[in-house]
Formats: sequence, C-alpha cells, structure tokens
Amino acid sequence: MDIDKIDNKEEKLLLARKIAEKVVDGQVIGFGSGSTSYLATIEIGKTIKEKNIRIKAIPTSNEIEDLCKECGIELGSLVEDEIDWSFDGADEVDGKNNMIKGMGRAMFREKLNILNSPITYILVDNTKFVNSLGEKHPVPIEVFPSAIKYVANELTKIGATETIFRGMTDNNNAILDTRFEKIDEELEKKIKSITGVIESGLFMNNNIKVLRIDE
Ligand code: A5P
Repeated sequence: MDIDKIDNKEEKLLLARKIAEKVVDGQVIGFGSGSTSYLATIEIGKTIKEKNIRIKAIPTSNEIEDLCKECGIELGSLVEDEIDWSFDGADEVDGKNNMIKGMGRAMFREKLNILNSPITYILVDNTKFVNSLGEKHPVPIEVFPSAIKYVANELTKIGATETIFRGMTDNNNAILDTRFEKIDEELEKKIKSITGVIESGLFMNNNIKVLRIDE
C-alpha cells in the first residue's frame, strides 16, 4: 500500500496511534484490513519495539499478514490462540453501529475476528458515518466462484437491484458488489442462507466500539 496516497491520512493516523496505545505485553490482537488498519499495524510495530514487548497478531488479509512480518509482529491463529481484542476499519457505520465492510475484500476473516473477540475497536474517520447503510457503498458479498450465477439470481429474488462482479478475494472466492433498496437484519440472514455465499459485508449487532479521535 502506498501510504502517501491514503485518503484522510491525518485523521486515520491519529486513530492508529490511539489503538497502538492500548497494546499490552502478551496480548493476542485481531488485526483488521484497509488503510486505517495498515497505519495501525505500523504504529503497533513501533510501539512493541519501543516498549520491548511481545504480542501475537491474527491478521485478516494477506497484505496485513505481510506487514506484520515486516514490522516484527508475531503471528497467531484462531485455532490455537484466544483473541484479547481486535481492531478494524469500516466502510459505513450507521447510528446503531451496524456496518458495511469488505470494500477491501477481506470481510470473511474480518467477521471471524470480530466474532472471536470480546471487543473490537472500529477505527473510522468522519466520512464513514451514514444515516442508513448502503448510502455510499454496495454490500460486498463473497461467493464460491462457480456459484456466482446462481447466487446473483437468488440475490435478485431477495431484492438486489444491481450485482456487479468486482474481483477475487485472498481466499480465491468472488466478490459481488450488490445494491439493495432496504438493508436490515432480515436481509443479512437472507443473504447468508443462499448456498454459495461465503460471507456478506453486512455486520449487524456485533460487539464493537467505534473509536473516535476526540474521545
Ligand atoms: C476491508 O475489507 C474493509 O472492511 C475495510 O475495513 C474498510 O474498507 C476500511 O478501509 P479504510 O481503512 O481504508 O477506509
């Protein structure tokens, strides 16, 4: 990732520094993906060197995994370790702390980390807050590759107004960016019940805390 090209970098850097302050020796931490998480990983790398402490990271994308290695951060796994806390970015956050994630195509591992964490700090700059989900972004849906035609048809049946193939994920699955008129918890359940859907970018009722710069 080219750090100089990150949007809203100053605000994201403040959040990254704030999260690095929370790191304690011996912790297992879930690392999110996207540019804010990228900056947070760099700041955490600096912190563990300065304080001479050790932590384990559970990364959610190949990019963040590689960066952890570069920064000297040890890697753990969801099978062998218990996460103390996680951090991550988001693409949209509504007034109930429901989110759209996955514009970085990493939402499957991101959701796994969130579900395995007592708490996840969400690092979002002020451009991410919306009145209703879907205002700015489509819902990314990770789909088993040979199921894309079937899944796209089923998505239309449950109200999708547009389904666009965006590319592949780190897990070699397809991403379908999907627009809906109305987004709610029922929709998330309906999407997840379609055979071939691996994960949706709707994050509803998760145990998260939105970290604000001014708190
Ligand atoms: C990755 O798949 C997404 O869920 C990211 O968390 C999201 O795109 C946030 O990215 P930025 O920190 O780059 O805004």
